[in-house]
Amino acid sequence: VTVEYLDYEVLDDHGWSLDATDLFERARRADLEPDAHGRLAVEPGETLLEAAEHNGFAWPFACRGGACTNCAIAIVDGRMPPPVGHILPESMIERGIRLSCLAAPITDNAKVVYNVKHMPDVAELLL
Ligand code: FES
Repeated sequence: VTVEYLDYEVLDDHGWSLDATDLFERARRADLEPDAHGRLAVEPGETLLEAAEHNGFAWPFACRGGACTNCAIAIVDGRMPPPVGHILPESMIERGIRLSCLAAPITDNAKVVYNVKHMPDVAELLL
């Protein structure tokens, strides 16, 4: 599975919306640092958080068990199973918010925005 990732802080800095259809095209044109935007491979059995760590990135986390939302990501393209035994409200699941500590995308390619814990409505859930 190949995942193209983008740091939510970049959206915040540039005033880009998570809903922008050309979000990742903008990111590619912006010549961002590798920790802010790029691609990584997720090996079978790895969670997305583990894959990021194995690629040398320090994505946010705290509990690693679906209880805190520090590791929240937004799926922009591709599919990732909704977490089981977690604290995300259904409305967030419907908007593509997932927890990177619990799973990884199941489509061959996916686009995700990580660090969405800084998105105001996710931040409200943070423990
Ligand atoms: Fe706490 Fe993922 S690290 S929910």
